[in-house]
Amino acid sequence: MDIKKVLKEATKEIELSSNQLNLQNIKVAYLGKKGRITELLKSLKNLSLDEKKSVGAELNQLRSEVDNLIKSKFNEIKVEEINSMLKNESIDISFPPPNSISPKVHPISKTFDEVISIFGSMGYSVAEGPDIETDYFNFSALNIPENHPAREMQDTFYIEDKDKDGKPFVLRTHTSPVQIRTLLKEKPPVKIIAPGRTYRCDSDSTHSPMFHQVEGLFINKNANMGNLKGTLIEFCKQFFNVQDLKVRFRPSYFPFTEPSAEMDIAYEIANNKIKLGQGDLWLEILGCGMVNPIVLENCNVDTKNFQGFAFGMGLDRITMLKYGLTDIRSFFSGNLNWIANNGFSIGDF
Ligand code: DAH
Repeated sequence: MDIKKVLKEATKEIELSSNQLNLQNIKVAYLGKKGRITELLKSLKNLSLDEKKSVGAELNQLRSEVDNLIKSKFNEIKVEEINSMLKNESIDISFPPPNSISPKVHPISKTFDEVISIFGSMGYSVAEGPDIETDYFNFSALNIPENHPAREMQDTFYIEDKDKDGKPFVLRTHTSPVQIRTLLKEKPPVKIIAPGRTYRCDSDSTHSPMFHQVEGLFINKNANMGNLKGTLIEFCKQFFNVQDLKVRFRPSYFPFTEPSAEMDIAYEIANNKIKLGQGDLWLEILGCGMVNPIVLENCNVDTKNFQGFAFGMGLDRITMLKYGLTDIRSFFSGNLNWIANNGFSIGDF
């Protein structure tokens, strides 16, 4: 049994392979059900007990070496493919669009403007934070320490560069770090919303790796849960244009609020269309609660004198609900037909 020869041949083939399909074929040829290494392992049964032990160990070593070589080559090919896509598929965003296209406002942009205007009328101003965050602002300052299960609830994109604490930067998984940034900058009372992009490693019809949230934060001497409920109900009535809106608040858990709740709005399906505000079905639209004093203390807020509430809402989700759209990914497909059908004329705005 020439194990060295097999390893040499496999190594050479893997090295020469230049695309994923070819590499997959090599994997099957060596490690598949009828692959060379698998066949060698099967032939162990004809050996004596002593031989089985030594040859078996060598074969296992061979199998894991070939497997590792394939894995690392696979990563190499993937990186090459991405780099070549980045190089060849660049678009010239300064190129003027054809005249036949009438400009449209994207539904998410419309939602942004409406959200800012509704909360603006309640006295909220707009705060901002960066999309690339530090571990501290995205997690620790919000009372989500390392190894906390809440970190796993949010599939985080990490960036190779490290921050001054030696931790990798993250693409912010929520808009909540803007709470921290604002409280470190401004003295209470604070009344802000922070709409913006957020990122999680997730993709299906209701999740997109890039999505949008709006954070709300109200800190003063006596803001309470009743104010929070009133604010959110009023927002939903205005945003969804439904005066008689059935909602419920369910107890929940977030490390940065105590107590915490989630808000659902009622809906029903009539004639294949979703009707919001009434009915026996419930849709979750946001998380909220009274800001955990630990978070306030992390921002040097005097918790003897100040308290407040916070909320975080998915802007893509409320946009989908409002306009009866079913696939979040269509928002970001860049498809001109889609925007022609689902966008808004500038005049409507
Ligand atoms: N940051 C939470 C998330 O993305 C949402 C959230 C919940 C924000 C409760 C809040 C809050 O401000 O109080 O899942």
